[in-house]
Amino acid sequence: MPNLADQRAIARTSSPYSPCTSLALVGFMGAGKTTVGRELASRLGWHFEDLDDLIEKLERRTVEQIFQEDGEAEFRRLEFMALRRMVKSPRHDSRVIALGGGAFIEPAIQDCLQAANIPAVFLDAPGDELFRRCDQPEVRRPLRRDQKQFEELYRRRRPEYLKATMRMDTGGKTIGAVATEIISALNLVPLPGGRE
Ligand code: S3P
Repeated sequence: MPNLADQRAIARTSSPYSPCTSLALVGFMGAGKTTVGRELASRLGWHFEDLDDLIEKLERRTVEQIFQEDGEAEFRRLEFMALRRMVKSPRHDSRVIALGGGAFIEPAIQDCLQAANIPAVFLDAPGDELFRRCDQPEVRRPLRRDQKQFEELYRRRRPEYLKATMRMDTGGKTIGAVATEIISALNLVPLPGGRE
């Protein structure tokens, strides 16, 4: 079993994120941030963290309740506080973090990731495909109303997502294929216990 220093050196990518010991998945609703994130973490033997889940745990309310009771601006504040808490925790290394769809639009969130040296991978796909992928009655998304509104919001946000470290096209691809491409593009090497 390699020691911690060896483990940290195992995952490598090119500068300025070398060695790459954690990464964030960003993109619009339906981009696959959570599903691809879980797959990546399992293959790499890294931890998986979902920012929306952390907010719900800390607040003891669902994202939908937060939007209804306190509005979007308060949700964005909670998002930033939760991310800051996450990147400051001692378990900071060897983590795949899935951000909520609007998080990376906030400059403070982009700055927070950059300051923590965490590369952001933008999972991109056509708007109509994203809309279809979000057709999950069990998941309530306050900012997904109808297709026109959804695609218009995506169009407005895309320039911010494009500020991510890397863009990965996910259109028509399986979760496994996207994970494989990210691992190869960032030259990530699994820790012992990963299954890649
Ligand atoms: C949001 C996306 C959601 C969630 C919240 C706001 C957004 O996350 O954070 O409903 O602003 O796009 P997912 O992208 O995981 O659905």
